Amino acid sequence: MTENKSCEGLCESRPHTEIADVPLGVSRRNALKGVAALFAAIGLSSASSAAFAAAKTYKVCKTTDIKIGSAKIFAVNGLPVVITQPKKGIFKAFNGYCTHQGAPLAASVGAVATQGTNMFCFQHGASFNTTTGAATGGPANRPLPKITATVSGTQVSVTL
Ligand code: FES
Repeated sequence: MTENKSCEGLCESRPHTEIADVPLGVSRRNALKGVAALFAAIGLSSASSAAFAAAKTYKVCKTTDIKIGSAKIFAVNGLPVVITQPKKGIFKAFNGYCTHQGAPLAASVGAVATQGTNMFCFQHGASFNTTTGAATGGPANRPLPKITATVSGTQVSVTL
């Protein structure tokens, strides 16, 4: 083990041996190549590139398709997306997979059952707030992940 003298003893709380033991001559570029090779070796290259893929905006429906206080589920790029209009002119979007056991909130594209400020999963009846996606009734206890919804004129779009 060697001792890193660059801090001149100012940061005594952290051991420096790991840093000092890295062979000299390993550039940042080569270190990144090594990380990429490691990801590829364990099959994460597509996952990592998907994670860095740019977000895309998709047109989903017209504002008139979602009545005030209602919710509908759509298939957007292979993902079930719930659009709600909890108040006039306010549109929200959520990942439509229930956080209980992962079923889409409705059996098919179309209306999601709602009552007051809640929408319900058709599988076991979990409820979620139509404005926030918060779980309001079991068996789910985690919120629906939010998705960015935008309205342009009468067009409702989401960004995934
Ligand atoms: S999968 Fe939705 S309540 Fe069980």
